Amino acid sequence: MKLLIMGPPGAGKGTQAEVMVKELNLTHISTGDMFRAAIKEGTEMGRKAKEYMDQGALVPDEVVVGMVKERLSKPDCDSFLLDGFPRTLDQAQALDATLTEMGIKLDGVVNIAVPREKLMARLTGRRVCKGCGASYHVIFNLPQVEGKCNSCDGELYQRSDDNEVAVGNRLDVYEAQTQPLIDYYNEQGLLFNINGDQEIKNVLVDILAALKK
Ligand code: AP5
Ligand code: MG
Ligand code: ZN
Repeated sequence: MKLLIMGPPGAGKGTQAEVMVKELNLTHISTGDMFRAAIKEGTEMGRKAKEYMDQGALVPDEVVVGMVKERLSKPDCDSFLLDGFPRTLDQAQALDATLTEMGIKLDGVVNIAVPREKLMARLTGRRVCKGCGASYHVIFNLPQVEGKCNSCDGELYQRSDDNEVAVGNRLDVYEAQTQPLIDYYNEQGLLFNINGDQEIKNVLVDILAALKK
């Protein structure tokens, strides 16, 4: 299966992707995670990306598109779940062109919908595992041991773009640039709309049920 997961910042893309990739045997491709890995490694691309990310702005299309294209050419991409890409109409068209070149098609686009007023609290209270990237929350999704990841025992940290100013920008950018992609994929008959404003485990149940159809 070749799937996309989309939704505003804090919708729960990463949280749901973590389980979906295990259940459905997919390769998780998160452009945000790839940029954070590049920042950690101290590469030139990471250094540039960080300037945009810390402000809650988008990294330029040509950088992201090149990175995803290269990733999709790897042998583990027979089945994949793209998370956080595409985020602009140009990125969506570039993805279509790349997939056509590769002779493959998307099977579906999972869109997790959550009202904007819920997202600030989700993001400012998020904690992320340094080891495996799993998301936790200080109220909605506590780890079993404070400050430690349930699955890899890694240390939890707060993302540098999870402050009120950056989150506000990310939400504005989402509404202006990414939300229009919902219509784009709906018109192609690929969209599964999922209510993300419910408990984490119920969101997963709805996603898996929608994909089974
Ligand atoms: P990215 O890392 O993709 O961030 P994002 O899109 O802003 O999304 P998040 O990861 O913040 O949210 P999520 O939906 O994954 O939520 P999560 O599951 O963690 O991108 C970061 C930056 O990189 C961008 O701003 C941009 O600069 C750059 N970038 C990346 N891709 C790019 C692209 N294609 N083009 C250009 N630039 C790009 O959950 C959030 C919190 O809520 C957690 O604490 C979680 O525990 C909690 N939670 C989850 N589900 C629920 C629930 N159902 N109920 C209550 N709490 C919940
Ligand atoms: Mg994420
Ligand atoms: Zn971990």
